[in-house]
Amino acid sequence: MSAPCKVLITAATGNVGPHAAAHLLEAGVSVRALVLKDDPHVGRLPERVEIFEGDLGVPDSIDAALEGVKGVFWMWPFFTLGTATALTVLKKIEKQARRLVLVSSVGVHIGLEPRDNNCHAYLEGLVEDHTSDLEWTFLRTTGFMANAFGFAPQVRNGGIVRFPYGAAARTSVHEGDLAAVGVRALTSDGHAGARYLVTGPESLTQKEQLRIIGEETGRELEWVDVHAGAAREQMVAAGWPPDYADGALDYFERLTREPEVGSDVVREVTGRPARTFRDWARENADAFR
Ligand SMILES: NC(=O)c1ccc[n+]([C@@H]2O[C@H](COP(=O)([O-])OP(=O)(O)OC[C@H]3O[C@@H](n4cnc5c(N)ncnc54)[C@H](OP(=O)(O)O)[C@@H]3O)[C@@H](O)[C@H]2O)c1
Repeated sequence: MSAPCKVLITAATGNVGPHAAAHLLEAGVSVRALVLKDDPHVGRLPERVEIFEGDLGVPDSIDAALEGVKGVFWMWPFFTLGTATALTVLKKIEKQARRLVLVSSVGVHIGLEPRDNNCHAYLEGLVEDHTSDLEWTFLRTTGFMANAFGFAPQVRNGGIVRFPYGAAARTSVHEGDLAAVGVRALTSDGHAGARYLVTGPESLTQKEQLRIIGEETGRELEWVDVHAGAAREQMVAAGWPPDYADGALDYFERLTREPEVGSDVVREVTGRPARTFRDWARENADAFR
C-alpha cells in the first residue's frame, strides 16, 4: 500500500508534533495539525503545515481537520477525559484514514497500566477492539528527553535541582526519534499491528542527565533528592490525578533498583541510530541558560 498523501497530527504543538510534521514533509506528505483555538505554540510547526482549529474533547470540532486525511498521528493529551470521547474520536478517524499511529507508553509494555485507567492502555484497547479497517501501529515510548525541560527553571535559578529519585535510571528517548519511528510507520509498509517499544540508546539516571546538561552548558549543577511526597503535591497541583502521580513516582522508585527496559527500535525502523541524551542536551542547551 502506498504512503498516505495527507496526514493529521493531533496534540500537534507539544514535544513530538513539530518533529513529526517536519519528518512527514520531508517524506513528501501533506501535513495537517489539529490545534486548540489561540494555541500560543503554533509557531513551533513548520510553515507548510495546514492548521485546523479543533478540540479533541469535543469530537465534532475535529471533523473538518479529518476530511480527506489518510493517516493520523494520534496523540491524546488527557489523563482523565471521558472514555466515550476517545472512542468517538477513533470512529471519526476510522471513517477517513487507512493508517493510524498511536503514541502509547512503556507503562503498557511492562504491564503497569491497567486497561481501565483511561490512558494509553485504554486507547490501545479501543483501537484493537473497535476498529477493523485501520492499519495501526502503537509506539510504546519511554519518557521523553524533553521531560528534562522540567529541570530548566531550577537550573537557571541557582543550579540546584530538587526532585525525588535521582538514581532512577531511564532509557529516555529523543522526541524527534519517536516522531521519526511514527512517520516511518505511517509512510512505509510492514508496520501494521506492531507494538513498538521505543527507547533511547542508553540508560542514564536522572542525576547523570543533569550532569550532562551541566557539561553542555558549562556549569556545575547539583542534584538534591527530596521526598516523593513533595513532588506528588506539585504534580497534583499541576493537574495530575493523584493515582497517576502515585503510579509515576512508584515507577521512578522502582527504576532506582532496576533500570528501565531498552530497545533498538529507532535504528531498526528508521535506519539511523537513536540520539543520545548528550545530543539532546547540546541541541537544547539554551533552554538551561
Ligand atoms: N512525556 C512523556 O515522557 C511521555 C511518555 C509516554 C507517553 N507520552 C505521550 O506522548 C504524547 C505526546 O506528548 P507531547 O509532550 O508531544 O504532547 P502533550 O503534552 O501530550 O500535548 C500537548 C499538545 O496537546 C494540545 N492539546 C491540549 N489539549 C487539547 C485538546 N483538548 N484538543 C486538542 N489539542 C489539545 C496542546 O495544545 P496547547 O499548546 O494549546 O495546550 C499541545 O499542542 C502524550 O499525549 C502522551 O500520551 C508522553
